[in-house]
Amino acid sequence: MLLRKIFARSLIVSALLAFSASLWAEVSRYEEPIRYRRAVMTMVKRHYEQVSAMAKGKIPMNRDELNRHANYLEMLSRASIDGFVAGSHEGDTKAKPEIWQDWPHFRSQVEKFQADATRLKEVARSGNPDSLKGALADMTRTCKNCHDDFKASSLER
Ligand code: HEC
Repeated sequence: MLLRKIFARSLIVSALLAFSASLWAEVSRYEEPIRYRRAVMTMVKRHYEQVSAMAKGKIPMNRDELNRHANYLEMLSRASIDGFVAGSHEGDTKAKPEIWQDWPHFRSQVEKFQADATRLKEVARSGNPDSLKGALADMTRTCKNCHDDFKASSLER
C-alpha cells in the first residue's frame, strides 16, 4: 500500500519534471533572439527620442550629436531583422505570430524602416530643420504601423 503510494508520487514528480524541462527548453531556445530584438528596439527608442528632441528644440541642436544618433539609428534599423528568428513568438515577448505568418509584409515594414533611417541620416548631414522634421515624421509613422500590425500591447496576448 505504502509502496504503491510512493510509486504513484514519484510518477507524478517525474512527469512534472519532464514537463518543466520541456518548457524550459522552449523558453531558452528563443531567449537569445528575443533579448536581441528587444535590446535593439530599446536602443532605437533612445536614439530616435534624442533626434526628435533636437528637431523639436527640446534640447539644443548639436550637429555632431545629431549625426551620431542618426548613424546609430541607421545601423540599428539594419540589425533589427536579425532578432526575428522564425517561430520566436513564444516567451517573454510581444512579437505577434503574424510576423512569421506574413513574413513578406513584415519584411517590407523593416525595409521601410531602413529606408527612413537612411534618409534621416542624409537629412541630418544636410542640417535642414524642416527636412529633418519631415524625415522624422515618416519614421514615426513606420514605427507605429509596424507596432499596430505586429506588436502586442501586453505580454498576455
Ligand atoms: C518592422 C517592425 C517594427 C518597426 C519598424 C519598429 N518596431 Fe519597435 N517593436 C517591434 C516589435 C515586433 C516589438 C516587440 C518585440 C518583442 O517583444 O519581442 C517592438 C518593440 C519595441 C519596443 C519595446 C522594447 C522592449 O522593451 O521590449 C520599443 C521601445 C520600440 N519597439 C520602439 C520602436 C521605435 C521608437 C521605432 C521607430 C523608430 C520602432 N520601434 C520601429 C516592431 C517594430
